[in-house]
Amino acid sequence: MVFRDSDGEFTTAVVYDVFWRPESARPAVDLLASLTRPDARLLDVGAGTGRFAIPLARMGHSVHCVEPSAGMRTALVAKASHDAQLRELITVDPRDASSFNADGEFDLAWCLEVLGYFRTDKELLGVFRNVRGHLSARGVFLFDGAGADEAVPDQADFELASEKQLGDDTFRMWTRTVRPDQAHCELNIRYERLSRSGAVLAQHEVQYWLRTRSRKHLEELLGEAGLRVREAFGDVDRRPFAEGARGLLLIGHA
Ligand SMILES: C[S@@+](CC[C@H](N)C(=O)[O-])C[C@H]1O[C@@H](n2cnc3c(N)ncnc32)[C@H](O)[C@@H]1O
Repeated sequence: MVFRDSDGEFTTAVVYDVFWRPESARPAVDLLASLTRPDARLLDVGAGTGRFAIPLARMGHSVHCVEPSAGMRTALVAKASHDAQLRELITVDPRDASSFNADGEFDLAWCLEVLGYFRTDKELLGVFRNVRGHLSARGVFLFDGAGADEAVPDQADFELASEKQLGDDTFRMWTRTVRPDQAHCELNIRYERLSRSGAVLAQHEVQYWLRTRSRKHLEELLGEAGLRVREAFGDVDRRPFAEGARGLLLIGHA
């Protein structure tokens, strides 16, 4: 693994696969696989480096991946390029969730771990409308992040959230969260790559403004887009939905 992108930078795309290993996607992949049938066309909105799309394509599904970040797309294409089945079944679309325009209809769409990027209701409504326009009549859409995320505490200082060892290198992820109010959360993430002696070889810091929305609020936006909630899960293991924790909504046409 080379820990630089094509511009020689140590970026989020570079560290994504260090911290979000393929096995971390397994429960979500199982849930998605249970919602589909053998010849279904699948749509991954905000596909990242292909954590969900790659295992589903390996099961034989064609997956259209919408991913606006060039770095994430490069990592996804690099993985798919080594395997003839993945090359045939995965398409990578550089547009974003509200502007992509793919041919045909999809039986299953998902948008997982992306909600925080949709800052305004107008933007999220545009995403819901665009996804609805791509769903087949009986198609469903799995979406996560409903409910206030009370699991995220306020942290005044950076705290070590995860550490991974790969070969001689140690990777650390530090997080700091500030919640100015119930509906917003500022998440700061610092990634570090350290040598065996503990020297910091590379560092990369990102800041996300996460907007939390209650299920009721999301249902209103979904209704405006002609969609409605069919089922709600507390998590990818289908535990019961509880307002106040992160939830998943299984959405279909209204
Ligand atoms: C935390 S990652 C999650 C990636 C993938 N869904 C996963 O769980 O592995 C968030 C992804 O959303 C993408 N993203 C950001 N803004 C987006 C938008 N407006 N439309 C679609 N994807 C977006 C980012 O580039 C990033 O790859």
